[in-house]
Amino acid sequence: MKKPVAILISGRGSNMRALIEAAQAPDYPARIACVIANRADAAGLDEARALGVPTHAIASKGLNREAFETQLSAALQASGAEIICLAGFMRLFTPDFTRAWYGRMLNIHPSLLPAFKGLDVHRRVVESGVRFTGCTVHFVSPEMDEGPIILQAAIPVPQHASPEQVADAVLAEEHKLYPQALRLLAEGRLVIDGPRVTIS
Ligand code: GAR
Repeated sequence: MKKPVAILISGRGSNMRALIEAAQAPDYPARIACVIANRADAAGLDEARALGVPTHAIASKGLNREAFETQLSAALQASGAEIICLAGFMRLFTPDFTRAWYGRMLNIHPSLLPAFKGLDVHRRVVESGVRFTGCTVHFVSPEMDEGPIILQAAIPVPQHASPEQVADAVLAEEHKLYPQALRLLAEGRLVIDGPRVTIS
């Protein structure tokens, strides 16, 4: 039985697309039950609909976290989702929500965590002079861009690269990494051991 997954987005949705396309393979262990955006104008919503995935928009602007999560939980329950994938979802959750989904909610971040949490990652990467960067898929815990790491991909940072060039190169890795991590979770192959994840 394929595990039903909800993808949460705030914008463009290129990782969302990578997950939807991966899940179209007959042997993929998850199916995308719905895409939920916290902005009605998220570009990814149109793309999800075009790919045949049910969508919901729950405008978070003006709602406090609890009110937003009440609506979100109702949409998740209606969709039957058992796993949440955050894909460029730019809103923080309450500790209660993250606890309720702990071990079943993934995020992708465009750096080699725990380095470069937060926003404006690629500019900070370039300015810092690091030689490698990459992306991380991790379980979501209450702190932003933290939680047990599932998979990472590293790429070199060429000298004189612009933040935009680094962003493009990292994004290409994100699109490969996220479907791999979701596959592992949906196959039941991930064991959380404190701050670490063991892959069986
Ligand atoms: C991706 O690079 C993702 O890693 C990042 O937002 C972008 C969304 O792009 N997420 C974060 O920074 C989370 N802290 P997308 O909408 O095209 O998938």
